[in-house]
Amino acid sequence: MLDEREHWGSYAGFIFASIGSAVGIGNIWRFPYIVGTNGGGAFLIPYAIIMIVFGLSFMILEFAVGRYYQTSIIECLGKIKHQFKWVGLFTVIISSVVLSYYLVILGWILGYLLVLNFDHEYLDFDRFNESVYPIISFIAIVIINFLVLRKGIKNGIEKLAKWGMIVFLALLIPLTINGILLPNAEEGIEFYLTPNVDKLLDSTIWANAFGQAFFSLSIGFGTLLVYGSYLKGKHSLFKSSSIIIIFDTAIAIIAGLMIFSFVFAYNMEPDVGVSLIFKVMVSVFLEMEFGILLGTMFFSLLLVAGLTSSISLFQVPISALEDSLKYSRNKSVFIVFIIIPLVGVPSLLSYSIYDLSLFEIPILDLMDEIFGTYGLSISAILFSIIVLWFMDKKKLLTSVNMNSSLKISHSYLKVMKFSLPSVIAITIIYRLFFS
Ligand code: PHE
Repeated sequence: MLDEREHWGSYAGFIFASIGSAVGIGNIWRFPYIVGTNGGGAFLIPYAIIMIVFGLSFMILEFAVGRYYQTSIIECLGKIKHQFKWVGLFTVIISSVVLSYYLVILGWILGYLLVLNFDHEYLDFDRFNESVYPIISFIAIVIINFLVLRKGIKNGIEKLAKWGMIVFLALLIPLTINGILLPNAEEGIEFYLTPNVDKLLDSTIWANAFGQAFFSLSIGFGTLLVYGSYLKGKHSLFKSSSIIIIFDTAIAIIAGLMIFSFVFAYNMEPDVGVSLIFKVMVSVFLEMEFGILLGTMFFSLLLVAGLTSSISLFQVPISALEDSLKYSRNKSVFIVFIIIPLVGVPSLLSYSIYDLSLFEIPILDLMDEIFGTYGLSISAILFSIIVLWFMDKKKLLTSVNMNSSLKISHSYLKVMKFSLPSVIAITIIYRLFFS
């Protein structure tokens, strides 16, 4: 017997879950550095323009398609035209691979929470990777995700999102205040936000703003579509998407204030990604008073942010099995939780003593480049072409404009039809050849 398809328990639950998906480790470990090195405060101009013009439109489209067809991305695209099911499957694969290494990074975060409190011998990132901590933490992260997802949309994802949001803010706000009050914090804030307007003419900045905006809003992964597919009410998608974008951006900006205050107060070099979090920030915490407590809060912040994102990625393949193969929730969750951790193993081992790599690039980084950057962009281009060129305009506009005070018109769709796929294509071509 098949159960009826689940829905969100409340509209607020949907908003919290979508913010939870958008606000992830990207907001904390990527956004600040990108701003700092791409024109400081001036970067916020291209970032805001891209968010408003392209981010908002793409987000509304994903939600609208999911809400209209009330099914997985494979079936949604298949309803537009049968052959497009393959594109849906392609997106499911991309999201699953990205998820597999996102779980590895989440495992590192949990592992650092443990070593920071109990085992300083392994605080050095290389030493850490030689220990068993990354492996046990990876397994623990998979189990936590499993326990939440097994409970479904309302009792699993929605509950985690609400609690996650409260815990997240309860950690972020005191950490940021603490950071800003440190001596020399102003220097960090200056580096972070002082606008370098000349840089606005540099196309790299625009390409970086585009990549960061799409990643941060979780665009192109099918997660927004899937979350939209559990939406029952006739809520305005324009309003919902605006709230999500404002929150995501505000949190990223605040995270930057926190990070740069800490980094500059302790005379460290700001850096990007893995080394910012596991090297620079760890050294900062080791030097400061109450560092273990603040470090524990910092890694818990990352953990909560990352968990509400990984949950949303998991839901993409789970809903594909439920809606396309008509498997029960339990069976779908079970299958997905066998496959995705297995796909994550090579990434997990790439930083360990086994050093798994290809062409001298660690597998995790390679996966990120192939699937997270190029695969994702291709999936976003195909999605926008299918929806904007092939979906019945009336149906699309009905879902897009439902209850919205600001109506999107036919002519706006026409502009998007050309500009959205081309802009994403230009960004990847630029990345491939010019950076
Ligand atoms: N938006 C998340 C971040 O900023 C990443 C993410 C992408 C999460 C897609 C879920 C789906 O880290």
